[in-house]
Amino acid sequence: MALKINYLKTENKKPSNIVLFSDEKFKISSLERYIDKNEISYISDLLKTSDLKKNLLVFELNSKKKIVLVSVKDKLKSSDIEGLGAEFYTRINLGKNSEYSVISDSLKSKHENFLSYFLHGIKLKSYSFNKYKTKKEDRKISINVIGKKNIPSAQLKLKFKALEEGTFYARDLVSEPGNILHPDEYAKRISSLKKDGLKVTIYDEKKLKKLGMHALLGVGQGSIRGSYLVTMEWNGKKNNSKPLAFVGKGVCFDTGGYSLKPARFMEDMTYDMAGSATVVGLMKSLALRKAKINAVGVVGLVENMVSGNAQRPGDIVKSYSGKTIEVLNTDAEGRLVLADALTFTEKRFKPQFIVDLATLTGAIIVCLGSEYAGLFSNDDKLSKQIFSAGEQVEEKVWRMPLHKNYDKLMNSKNADMQNINYVGGAGSTTAAQFLQRFILNKTPWAHLDIAGMAFSKYGGALNSGGATGFGVRLLNKLVEENYE
Ligand code: BES
Ligand code: MN
Ligand code: ZN
Repeated sequence: MALKINYLKTENKKPSNIVLFSDEKFKISSLERYIDKNEISYISDLLKTSDLKKNLLVFELNSKKKIVLVSVKDKLKSSDIEGLGAEFYTRINLGKNSEYSVISDSLKSKHENFLSYFLHGIKLKSYSFNKYKTKKEDRKISINVIGKKNIPSAQLKLKFKALEEGTFYARDLVSEPGNILHPDEYAKRISSLKKDGLKVTIYDEKKLKKLGMHALLGVGQGSIRGSYLVTMEWNGKKNNSKPLAFVGKGVCFDTGGYSLKPARFMEDMTYDMAGSATVVGLMKSLALRKAKINAVGVVGLVENMVSGNAQRPGDIVKSYSGKTIEVLNTDAEGRLVLADALTFTEKRFKPQFIVDLATLTGAIIVCLGSEYAGLFSNDDKLSKQIFSAGEQVEEKVWRMPLHKNYDKLMNSKNADMQNINYVGGAGSTTAAQFLQRFILNKTPWAHLDIAGMAFSKYGGALNSGGATGFGVRLLNKLVEENYE
C-alpha cells in the first residue's frame, strides 16, 4: 500500500472525498462554505440519527463521494490527535484506491498544530512490512491537504518526517527474519547510516576479545555469524558536552542456547533485537532532524545459537568490567550482552545518562502485558522525565523497584555473580539488578524492558500490528523536552 500526502493551496479539480473538521458535537453550520447545499441538508438529516459520541463520522453521498467529519474536541492532547489520525486511516484503508481532500481551513486557528499530529498518526498507522510478499499490493491512498491556514510549518514537517523515518527504520529491522538480519548483515546496515551524518564504529570479534568483552562474546560463540558492538555518534552540539547514551540489546535470534526454548516461545525470537533497533531508529531520527545535542547509540549484536562450540550452562566468563559471571542459564543472554555494552558506554563516552532498551524478560509481560514497558532506574529525575515523555507520545512506561535484597539474589558461589536467580519471582527486577552491577560510576541510568511492547500481534493505537518501533518516539521526546 502506498500512501502519499500532498499539500495544495487550492483544489485544482473537484474533490472526490473530503475531510472536514467540526466541533465536538459535529455542528456543521460553520462548514457550509465547503459543502454543497443539498449535501448539507442530507448530512444534517443523517446527523440526527448518528452516534455523536464517535470521533469521526463518514457520510457516503454516492458511490464516488464521501464526506468525513472529524470531531475536534477543545482539549485534545497531541497523542489524542495522533490517535484520531490513525482511526481515520483505519476507516479509509478499505481495499480501494482512494483520494481524500483534507480541508485545513475548516480547522479553528487555535488548532494550528492539529494537522501535524493528525497526519503523523495516519503515517504511523499506515506502515506495513511486505518485503517478502511476491504479490505486491498496488493500492494507492492519496491525501491532499488543501488550504492556506493551519498548514504544518516546514520545520514541523521535517521533525515529524525524521520521527517517521526513524520509527519505520526500527520497524523494518525488527520485522526482518533471523536468516536475513544476522549480526553480520545488521552491522552492515548500521554502517550505511553514515550517510545521515552519524559516525559509526564497528567492533568485531577480534577487537572485542582484545577489549575483554567475554560476556557478550560468550553469547555469540555458538553462531557461525560474527558478534559485534557497534557505536553511532551524533554531534549536534558544537562543544564537547557530555553525550546522552542509548544502549540496545541486539540478539538477532534467541534459541535460548543449550537452555533451549520450547518451539512456541522460540518462534517469536526474531524480534529479540528490538531494543537495538530502537536505538538505531532513534539515532537516525536525531540525525535527520539535526537535533542540537550530542548523543551516542551503542548496540550489542549477537545470535544465541546451539552448536558444538556454544556456551554451556555453568560456564564462567569474565566481563569487560572485570567481574566474573556464572552462566547458569544460556537463555538469560540479553543481560550478558548488555553488561559489556553498559560498562563500555559508561567508560568510553562518560555520558550524562544511559538509557538501555531490551526485550529482556518474559516476566515483564506477566507484570505489564502490552500496555507499559518496565522502567528500572537508579535516578528519580531521569525516571520522571522518561515517564512524562511516555505519557505524551503514548509509549508508556511504569517504574518497577530495585532493591539491594533483590541484588543479593544474583550472587554466585563460584563467581562474582550468576545470570539467573534461583529463589524465584521478580525475574524482571533481578535482571535489572544484574545490569545495574555493570554501571560502575553511578551514572544516571534507566533500563526499559520492552519485551511486551516491541511486537504487537493485533495492532495498537498507532500501529497496524507487527513491529511497533516502541521507544523511538519516547526517547526523542525525552531528548527534545529536557536536553535540547
Ligand atoms: N528474549 C527473552 C525474553 C523475551 C521473552 C522477550 C518473550 C520477548 C518475549 C530473554 O532472552 C529470555 O529468554 N529471558 C528468560 C530469562 C530467564 C531464563 C531467567 C525468560 O524471560 O524466560
Ligand atoms: Mn533468552
Ligand atoms: Zn533474549
